[in-house]
Amino acid sequence: MAQECSSIENVQAVLSAQSYVADRALSTVVFLALALKRPIFLEGEPGTGKTEIAKAIAAGLGRQLIRLQCYEGLDTSAAVYEWNFAAQMIAIRAAEASGDKGDLRHSLFGPEFLIERPLLQAMRPQQGGAPVLLIDEIDRTDEPFEAFLLEALSDYQVTIPELGPVKAAEPPIVILTSNRTREVHDALKRRCLYHWVDYPSFARELEILTARAPEASATLSREVVAFVQRLRQEDLFKKPGVAETIDWAKCLLALDVLELSPEVISDTLGAILKYQDDIARLQGMEAKKILDDARQSLEPV
Ligand SMILES: Nc1ncnc2c1ncn2[C@@H]1O[C@H](COP(=O)(O)OP(=O)(O)OP(=O)(O)O)[C@@H](O)[C@H]1O
Ligand SMILES: [Mg+2]
Repeated sequence: MAQECSSIENVQAVLSAQSYVADRALSTVVFLALALKRPIFLEGEPGTGKTEIAKAIAAGLGRQLIRLQCYEGLDTSAAVYEWNFAAQMIAIRAAEASGDKGDLRHSLFGPEFLIERPLLQAMRPQQGGAPVLLIDEIDRTDEPFEAFLLEALSDYQVTIPELGPVKAAEPPIVILTSNRTREVHDALKRRCLYHWVDYPSFARELEILTARAPEASATLSREVVAFVQRLRQEDLFKKPGVAETIDWAKCLLALDVLELSPEVISDTLGAILKYQDDIARLQGMEAKKILDDARQSLEPV
């Protein structure tokens, strides 16, 4: 295991050096995943740092980050490998022209014509050690691909019929994320260490905002976090994630706002709410009420 992650505290420190704020439970999962060489399965609300943690682990450990973005219809040619058909055609034409067909059939299916996609790349040794493989938004793929993934992650091996199996000498650090638009199969989850990423508490969100937007004053940061925390209690179509909190604070900074007011909130709502129905609800009196509530919840500094 990486020396810098030999304890839960060390994991927390490595993440924090990348401006990633992880609570004890999440740091424990990362520590165990590294110690036991097991994939991590992160499920949770949008914008709560699921994708970002893979980047933080890779940067913190000096490993390469290999990302497989999932979508409906993702297949092995986009996820594992593909033969470079155009280059193969050129090689055939060239061989025909020169009359030297030699061992063409064999060489056409050699490494030279292989396009490696994320899953195959992740099985290859990389500089700095085993890479971090981020399989992002697995819930967007379909079940056959999930079954394939289960197999690939069981023995960290993928097979290319023409070349044979490729097995990772050292397993990659695998992080799967899901927004839970559908349930991922139990068999895949069972292989992983599961962690639900919830919206952070006030204190933790303030810590995240301070790490990500240190230029914001303490007063503005506290108001912004208190407002977003209070806003999440409303019955919204889409609640703001941490990403929105950070974006909003940056917008307010760009506008030289020193503290919140109902007018400022109403002018900048598009940074935190992305649905017109939610925005319409929050305009006017409602924003003022939420701001008053949020301010009340802030103890004097
Ligand atoms: N714990 C955290 N520490 C530091 N930054 C965080 C944390 N959580 C979220 N962020 C910030 O929020 C942004 C969004 O996080 P991220 O993209 O990882 O969310 P996500 O959970 O993957 O969202 P989605 O489900 O929409 O893909 C990141 O760029 C990062 O700046
Ligand atoms: Mg994400």
